[in-house]
Amino acid sequence: MNLTDLTGTKYPIIQGGMANIATGEFAAAVSNAGGLGLVASGGMDAEALREQIKICKSKTDKPFGVNLMLMNPDVENIAQMLIEEKVQFITTGAGNPGKYMAGWKAMGAKVFPVVASVALAKVMVRSGADAVIVEGGESGGHVGDMTTMTLLPQVAAAVDVPIIAAGGIASGEQMAAVMLLGACGVQIGTCLLVSEECPIHDNYKEALIKAKDNATTVTGRSQGAPVRIIKNEMAREYLKLEAEGAGREELERITLGGLRRAVVDGDIIRGSVMAGQVCGQLSAIRPVADILDDLYVNAKHTLSNASTIAI
Ligand SMILES: Cc1cc2nc3c(=O)[nH]c(=O)nc-3n(C[C@H](O)[C@H](O)[C@H](O)COP(=O)(O)O)c2cc1C
Repeated sequence: MNLTDLTGTKYPIIQGGMANIATGEFAAAVSNAGGLGLVASGGMDAEALREQIKICKSKTDKPFGVNLMLMNPDVENIAQMLIEEKVQFITTGAGNPGKYMAGWKAMGAKVFPVVASVALAKVMVRSGADAVIVEGGESGGHVGDMTTMTLLPQVAAAVDVPIIAAGGIASGEQMAAVMLLGACGVQIGTCLLVSEECPIHDNYKEALIKAKDNATTVTGRSQGAPVRIIKNEMAREYLKLEAEGAGREELERITLGGLRRAVVDGDIIRGSVMAGQVCGQLSAIRPVADILDDLYVNAKHTLSNASTIAI
């Protein structure tokens, strides 16, 4: 199955939920460009998120969805509000959405949980997921241990729902590769941060354009909450403290509000500049439509030329 059959979008491409970044306006821009835009719930309560959903609805007549982090303190109200607002696509992270599934399905929504292991993928499918988003640790933000290259085929062999690949995709060649590994479409995050429409500070975008292949690191492994970010002064200090065995409180003091510091204030030295390993490939700030068109057209081209590769 192609992802576009599930989503009704022009391209088999989903914009990943990105806390403090994926506003209603940004999600609408992605949907208008042919992808599935997602409004992110991170850091919002139900009513603030409802506002963003309304903004998204007012700016696009194309399909869009919401990303719900299940650790959100207002999760119960958000789960109900998504039904009231008839949100048609719901992606979930950080937990099992099983208890909300019946209500969402009865309203007509399709649910795509994000998974970082085969075991979790199986649980989600048993809970009624319509597809799973398999995210490798190359991605920006919260990460699992496995890479997209190794996790994707193992999930594909274990479940029989459509699979969307995430983590490490920013070119047509990478999109083609995950389609060969069993995906029916992709979810992208980092490469959309450098779109003209993305509402992050220019300093953040410039830091991504300047970034090299090894520009990111993972903090928070000692706390069981690994996050991939650009290696800056804050990240180096955090890693040093982690190596010295610092506790949760001391570590949280450094990261508290860090994403907002980077996104809103443009503090790329002390802020949490979340980004995936593909940041080393990014070279220009472009309209979302150009990013999606290039990804899709180059993936098609790569796949149709694949038979010419000598092996
Ligand atoms: C800045 C940033 C914030 C993110 N926040 C969230 C989030 O709130 N919820 C979520 O499910 N995933 C989040 N992610 C992961 C993305 O939705 C997406 O799966 C990931 O970026 C794909 O990998 P890529 O960065 O290699 O493209 C975030 C990623 C980034 C880069």
